[in-house]
Amino acid sequence: MHKLNVDSDDVLAPTYAGRWFAHDVPKYRLPAEGMAAEAAYQLVHDELNLDGNPTLNLASFVTSWMEPQANRLAEETLPKNLIDQDEYPMMEVIHRRVVSMIGRLLHAPAASQPTGTATIGSSEAIMLAMLAHKRTWQLRRRAEGKPVDRPNMVVGADAHTCWEKFARYFEVEARIVPLEEGRYTIGGADVSPLLDENTIGVAGLLGTTFTGQMDDLRSIDALLTKVHDERGWRIPMHIDAASGGFILPFSKPQEEWDFRLPSVHSINVSNHKFGLVYPGMGTVVFREAADLPEELIFHINYLGGDMPNYTLNFSRPAYGVILQYFSFLRLGHTGYRRVINTALENARALAARLAKIEGLELIEDGSNFPIVVARTAPDSGGPDVDLRVLSRRLRERGWIVPAYTLPPNAEHITVMRMVIKENFSRDMVELLSADVHSAFQALSREKTEGVQPPRTRRRPHC
Ligand SMILES: Cc1ncc(COP(=O)(O)O)c(C=O)c1O
Repeated sequence: MHKLNVDSDDVLAPTYAGRWFAHDVPKYRLPAEGMAAEAAYQLVHDELNLDGNPTLNLASFVTSWMEPQANRLAEETLPKNLIDQDEYPMMEVIHRRVVSMIGRLLHAPAASQPTGTATIGSSEAIMLAMLAHKRTWQLRRRAEGKPVDRPNMVVGADAHTCWEKFARYFEVEARIVPLEEGRYTIGGADVSPLLDENTIGVAGLLGTTFTGQMDDLRSIDALLTKVHDERGWRIPMHIDAASGGFILPFSKPQEEWDFRLPSVHSINVSNHKFGLVYPGMGTVVFREAADLPEELIFHINYLGGDMPNYTLNFSRPAYGVILQYFSFLRLGHTGYRRVINTALENARALAARLAKIEGLELIEDGSNFPIVVARTAPDSGGPDVDLRVLSRRLRERGWIVPAYTLPPNAEHITVMRMVIKENFSRDMVELLSADVHSAFQALSREKTEGVQPPRTRRRPHC
């Protein structure tokens, strides 16, 4: 190992002439000796160059661009732990402001102070919400002298995997409504036969991961209200608004999908999606304080003061909350409306261009969310291109466009999905659609002409 000598070339040589660049990088064991900070930075930085480019990543819903002032705040806040409420009291004040703003945006009843917490993302938010509903159900059943050993929840196969994760980790039977060709969301009629007195909650999706569509939330709400009136079962609906929670309030504020529906008792949003904050921030909000059983809240005093806490993890970075507050102040309603509507217009522009490709059919065209989902058109007589191959071709140009099969019973359908985010301009739409077009043409030509992929030449022996 190399000892650092301040007079040596290690310090004085141009960065890449330092000796660390002519040796293997330690990979799986802590190295015995360190290296200069600049060398370590450069080595890690260069390895990360092999990652995809976040700007061209249409697979992810997660924010990949913020203004320089947000970056500055993030850097200033990096050392702070959100849990240290006593040490960083302003963090907690801002945390409460953010939860309150989100609660009001989602029409939490005006009489109550919105109850909720920032989380690391929507998965944690959903787990916390469903744990609360499970405990509320248990408390009620125990008070009635009824068994509590077989809780279930109803969820569409269109839901994100975190729902199944909750069911498995927290021992709740997941009653999953299957999809079918042409129907990729669920409604009241699908949910109805699966409900019983042991149902702790029903999931409603505002923007599904697979097709970017929304469940028929109003019909599920009407069903749950009816079931309550007729059978006496109090079954809450949780809205998974990971993707749509920051879209509809700005694009279609009149549309009632949130706490305005009486059976909605909790909602999660992903602030790190269209809340326009970097990865690491979600929020769960309850309709009212009574939806979160007191016994689930931990009161911690060993950091000083009384800190009520309802999260799965204890420590977490504070920058997500701070950046969300920054974006709320920076943009306000007007700014969010402009950002969201621009993303929607660009998604629709992309959809309109892709719709012209013979052999491609749109499942989602950006009408509700800035998401475009396409499949090959089964009966068009056009070329039957494998979208997974198309996805790989696009990757050669740098675009990250995932192709995947839909959940059961629509698993025979392969789709590709493009999420249009704030930093994807119309110019990028033009470039992407031109590349999809030419890759699609090339693949269909290869298919009809039976073109084989070029054979790799054998290397000459040396
Ligand atoms: C609808 C939906 N719910 C939940 C999640 C999980 O969110 P997170 O990645 O923030 O845990 C996602 C992630 O993409 C999602 O699309």
